[in-house]
Amino acid sequence: MATETTGTLGGAAESNGVAQANGKRQKLHGRAFYESIGSPKLVLAPMVEQSEFVRLIFYSSFWYFRRLTTRFAQAWRLLSRSFLPSDQQRSLLAYTPMFHSKMFHEKSHYRDAHFQPLKATIPSPPDDYHTSQLQDSERHLDGHPAIDRPLTVQFCSNDPDDLLKAAQHVAPFCDAVDLNLGCPQGIAKRGKYGAFLQETPDLIASMIRKLHEQLDVPVTAKMRVLETKEKTLAYAKTLLDAGASIITVHGRRREQKGHNTGLADWQMIRHLRESLPKDTVIFANGNILQHEDIATCLEATGADGVMSAEGNLYDPTIFAPPPPIGNEGREYWRDKDGKSGYRVDAVMRRYLDIIHKYALGQTPPVRTPLWKPGDPEEAPVEEKEEEVGEEGPPRKKQKQKQDSKQKSKAAAKKEKTQNPNLTAMQAHLFHLLRPLVSAHHNVRDALARSRTGDIDAFENVLLLVEKAVKEGITAYDPNATQPAPPPPSDDPYESSLATVARCKRPYWVCQPYVRPLPKEALEKGSMSLSKKEKKRLEEEKEKAETEAVGLEVGGKVDMQSKETGEVVGKESLGESEEKKGEDVGEGVVEVPREGVVCG
Ligand SMILES: Cc1cc2nc3c(=O)[nH]c(=O)nc-3n(C[C@H](O)[C@H](O)[C@H](O)COP(=O)(O)O)c2cc1C
Repeated sequence: MATETTGTLGGAAESNGVAQANGKRQKLHGRAFYESIGSPKLVLAPMVEQSEFVRLIFYSSFWYFRRLTTRFAQAWRLLSRSFLPSDQQRSLLAYTPMFHSKMFHEKSHYRDAHFQPLKATIPSPPDDYHTSQLQDSERHLDGHPAIDRPLTVQFCSNDPDDLLKAAQHVAPFCDAVDLNLGCPQGIAKRGKYGAFLQETPDLIASMIRKLHEQLDVPVTAKMRVLETKEKTLAYAKTLLDAGASIITVHGRRREQKGHNTGLADWQMIRHLRESLPKDTVIFANGNILQHEDIATCLEATGADGVMSAEGNLYDPTIFAPPPPIGNEGREYWRDKDGKSGYRVDAVMRRYLDIIHKYALGQTPPVRTPLWKPGDPEEAPVEEKEEEVGEEGPPRKKQKQKQDSKQKSKAAAKKEKTQNPNLTAMQAHLFHLLRPLVSAHHNVRDALARSRTGDIDAFENVLLLVEKAVKEGITAYDPNATQPAPPPPSDDPYESSLATVARCKRPYWVCQPYVRPLPKEALEKGSMSLSKKEKKRLEEEKEKAETEAVGLEVGGKVDMQSKETGEVVGKESLGESEEKKGEDVGEGVVEVPREGVVCG
């Protein structure tokens, strides 16, 4: 309980929403909690299961696409923080990916595979005695007080007891626990969690209240907006009244996913800001593609902090302010027109160094300074022969003599293939290098063949990336005519071309992925509409047309005889034929892209 006397939790207690008062722990709430963790304005989103990203795999002489599963592991959080000035690294609040509360408290192997705060084994959930005895050297990566805070651990749940039990396992190692109310996927619908709890506000309130009353650290919640401002406000109040210390508001509705993602509605977040008590802590989420968007979003929504997910996935430097002109150093690239960003080779170096140091526990290799224009010419980089076999030289696998040796090797391999930092590497790098690999297929293929834990293979990819970046920068002609930007449009829903023009950088610079808007996806044929969605759009169109001629939806108009043109009665407005007894489908039907093998 939050009011019991406890030890020091390895030095982390003062920062995890728990203030020390006369040796007693006192749980903070709302704005007081937010201020206790440094009032972060930058928030790294929870991210699990990168479902729309596909990986190219080579199998039986064919290339296949397969969905990638990645969890935002601690190394990525560390990388994202590393681009901030050192005195500001704690001003980034990071969320873990979503964990399933029932699995988390019931299955120790699930817990161990997803959240690793300790090297030592102590009873879990940890009691106050054991946590007070912990040395810093016994701490692993997740929630480490020196490098992975502030940190919020996120769960999905539909049961207050499950949620509390799961949260108790992580409470000593994080600053807050968040309830996921935003997941729109089919799996959440089947499992009855995430955004599919919107219809059961009492259940949501009971889960939040349970944690608010019984957990040692504060509880927060991440929601999507509903169809109207009124409903969204009432929903937000439910979460806050139940005891949520912070609400993150993703400005998209539950239906906005996949090709139908579209833009987040910042006006809805602004409405919450203006309607809720002033001291409510709100994070805005959605539409953050590059660094400048953070300030724009803070201004437009009045939120306390801004959360970025996909923007960070493609550009982990997104939270960092650009260095001043003339101070680019080796890692940053800027052209004469001011288009700029961190170089992907620089970011990949940092990422691999973090993996060496924190995930593998070894000293990173000594690296020569990153090449930049004007450096003296060096001998060309040799491309290493790729290993296709599982491990070791494929020609003659030496039979292992000692059983014990075999066992320790197997254990090391198991540890490597289960370490979330290592399993996440390939997918992270595909996102980071997306524009580069589409221009340099040798890099794509080498990365596709890099197996979990094979750091030499990833080092080889880095060499290829550095070579490709050098080629690109050397060949870049700053005076070449750039394609004309599309004409400015007042309607941001009109086209994503303007966004592409704003965000596009050469392939050697980190940059966001700009999704086509739903309208464009429809035109391209990569999305089709369900009956329900068609009906909604028709009704919206009809409403707009009706209002444009000064009539009311649902009103009556004269009904004319087709033959004579005479008025023969009154007809209701806004009632289509389809409305009568149709069997409506659910949301948008997504058609898989060509060449993609789903599942
Ligand atoms: C690959 C991926 C995984 C995600 N996983 C989670 C998750 O585990 N929990 C959650 O609350 N939201 C999750 N989201 C949603 C994001 O946190 C965020 O709300 C959404 O992407 C909108 O933010 P953005 O416009 O910055 O991408 C995920 C999003 C992506 C792209």
